[in-house]
Amino acid sequence: MNLPPVRIIPQTVPLAETLFSQEQIRHRIGELAIQIEEDLEGSPPIFLAVLKGSVMFLADLVRAMKGQVDIDFLSISSYAAAGERTGVVRIVKDVEILIEGRDVIVIEDIVDTGLTLAFLLRTLQTRNPKTLRVCTLIDKPVRRIVEPPIDYVGFVTDSYVVGYGLDFKGRYRNLPYMVGVDDVAALAADPDALKPLLHGADED
Ligand code: PRP
Repeated sequence: MNLPPVRIIPQTVPLAETLFSQEQIRHRIGELAIQIEEDLEGSPPIFLAVLKGSVMFLADLVRAMKGQVDIDFLSISSYAAAGERTGVVRIVKDVEILIEGRDVIVIEDIVDTGLTLAFLLRTLQTRNPKTLRVCTLIDKPVRRIVEPPIDYVGFVTDSYVVGYGLDFKGRYRNLPYMVGVDDVAALAADPDALKPLLHGADED
């Protein structure tokens, strides 16, 4: 008996769903830029981006600003024990611009436990900026351990967010929108499972 050939049905991506679309991100960043500009008092601020996840956000945010903005970067390494952050943080690439007397806005992709940001604010405060504020793309309050002050928030969510700078094991930073991962354990077992999203032009 001749059996019909087995058809392989391409797997859709069941592990994640769109959380914030490109249009929502663009719109929210426009609102944040207006809000930040209203709060500035003349002199150009320094947008200090924490590598690596915040680079997409920084790039779009500064382009939404009307006035002059200086940008700089710092990179930190967080010590984790049993997969959990400990709050032990080390600067591995420091700011190059002198921040003393300047209006500084720390640009983060996500505030999760809050430990990294708390460390950064303590460290930067010792350098006597005129003002020190924080702008984060994502605020994820559900896992908060400490509550550093956050001045500007793009989106609030409890989801595990990937895309638009936020990675999963180094992947998906270049996804132009953000997805919420429904099954993190399944993605950990197959970190490439969301790869089809990178090939699809439409997020919805
Ligand atoms: C993210 C983010 C913060 C930190 C926040 O960095 O940029 O630095 O996690 O987490 P916390 O509130 O629990 O301290 P990550 O370690 O993911 O590095 P990356 O941006 O280079 O991916």
